[in-house]
Amino acid sequence: MWDDIYRELETSGLDPDEERAGTAWLDPFWHLLGEPRGKMLDVGCGLGADMARFAAEGWRPVGIDLEARATGFVGRTYGFPAYTADIRCPLPFDDETFNLASSRFAIHFLPPGGARDLFRELRRVLRPEGRLIFAVNSQEHRRLGLQYDYTDAFEREADYWHLPTLDRTYLFYSTRLAKRLLGSGWRILHLGAEPFEHWGIEKHAVLCVAEKAGTGGLPS
Ligand SMILES: C[S@@+](CC[C@H](N)C(=O)[O-])C[C@H]1O[C@@H](n2cnc3c(N)ncnc32)[C@H](O)[C@@H]1O
Repeated sequence: MWDDIYRELETSGLDPDEERAGTAWLDPFWHLLGEPRGKMLDVGCGLGADMARFAAEGWRPVGIDLEARATGFVGRTYGFPAYTADIRCPLPFDDETFNLASSRFAIHFLPPGGARDLFRELRRVLRPEGRLIFAVNSQEHRRLGLQYDYTDAFEREADYWHLPTLDRTYLFYSTRLAKRLLGSGWRILHLGAEPFEHWGIEKHAVLCVAEKAGTGGLPS
């Protein structure tokens, strides 16, 4: 799905300032992500802009993305490990590998059941008290008709909308839905639905930061 977009970006070349600007969504949250100490996982890493930012902040980033073109680019450009894998499947990592997992606008491609499974997998690969941060399109994003062409859009299941002109399906989140899909075993540190400006594109997003609770952590 993203291969054409990434091929075009590779050909035209990336603007480092723009890439860095795209990571600004993280700025209000650094204090909630804990000390940069060890490995972080970027879920749906794309061309690795957030990974570069995490590395600059002291983390050791590892990426995962469905598109081999993206993971190849990350490896060649930054030298970070990046795995071509599908986040609808169990994650190819051992238990308690990461101190942090992050995802910018990738988790909302999964239907509710897939998101629930992924959050369970992320909890598995995070260390005790590891943190998770993610941004996904909100329900207001769709209601306000932002960013996409919604012509003939239809709901495949609750809140999971297929957009025929793009041939993509998105789960549009409320904070309540995010909480429900996260399930137990997390302590929520931030959860909000808010307007979101991304590379000049007007969006509306649900942003969440959570801590893995359980062994050594606080109860959810
Ligand atoms: C909107 S892009 C975001 C990329 C990057 N996080 C960023 O913000 O620049 C969504 C990314 O999610 C990836 N993705 C979508 N579905 C996926 C899946 N099932 N497994 C792994 N990656 C997936 C796409 O290949 C794409 O790179």
